[in-house]
Amino acid sequence: MTPTRSHVALVGNDVVDLGDPDNQASFGRPGYVERVCTPAERRTVEAAADPERTFWALFAAKEAAYKLLVKLGEEPGLAHRSIEVASDFGSARYQDHELRVTVEHTEGWVHALSSLGPSAPRFEVAALPPHARASAAGRELLCRIAATVLGVPGATLSIERRPSPRSYDGFEPPRLCQAGVPTGIDVSLSHDGKYVAAALSCPSG
Ligand SMILES: CC(C)(COP(=O)(O)OP(=O)(O)OC[C@H]1O[C@@H](n2cnc3c(N)ncnc32)[C@H](O)[C@@H]1OP(=O)(O)O)[C@@H](O)C(=O)NCCC(=O)NCCS
Repeated sequence: MTPTRSHVALVGNDVVDLGDPDNQASFGRPGYVERVCTPAERRTVEAAADPERTFWALFAAKEAAYKLLVKLGEEPGLAHRSIEVASDFGSARYQDHELRVTVEHTEGWVHALSSLGPSAPRFEVAALPPHARASAAGRELLCRIAATVLGVPGATLSIERRPSPRSYDGFEPPRLCQAGVPTGIDVSLSHDGKYVAAALSCPSG
């Protein structure tokens, strides 16, 4: 069950590049929307003024929720439909967990945050600089946000991911470290196409 203690502050985030040809092709592929969405979510997509954008908002919310659920010890696996996003995009449910969700749009991207805790996480979406590696750009963005929030020099901050043979990509979720020591402040990274995004939970407001 989702923890309710006020000091628990966790975050997951996901960005989708709406102009990415792979994403556009996926949305048009027969059966794709049905594989990702529950019947209620499909109705939300069908009723929307912009079904493609609405679908990617749902998708991003599910991936953001997935990244948080893993930190609660859950393993949703390859099953987007097991996470259901509310029609107002304000929450996501997985079994007996209910997570807060917020979705933001611009013309080029949609970004979703899932969170638990007393205050809204900080996040930023940025264009991937030319020739930059997405993972490195995401870490740089996250360290910049964290330096501002924590009031410490960005050069003292780093992101580590410890190996985890059981996880999807072989590593644990990212951790924010200062001078090499984990801060205990939860963070999340995402990159897609021309964009990178980073989010930082704010445990005490
Ligand atoms: C893990 C997953 C959510 C990552 O999403 P993605 O769209 O592939 O990639 P994103 O760019 O958004 O996110 C990648 C970042 O997420 C973070 N990440 C990776 N695995 C993670 C996990 N299990 N938990 C939290 N964060 C994770 C990493 O920091 C990674 O960036 P990095 O490689 O630069 O360190 C996605 O690959 C996935 O869904 N995997 C299969 C599991 C599944 O089917 N989930 C269904 C969701 S309902």
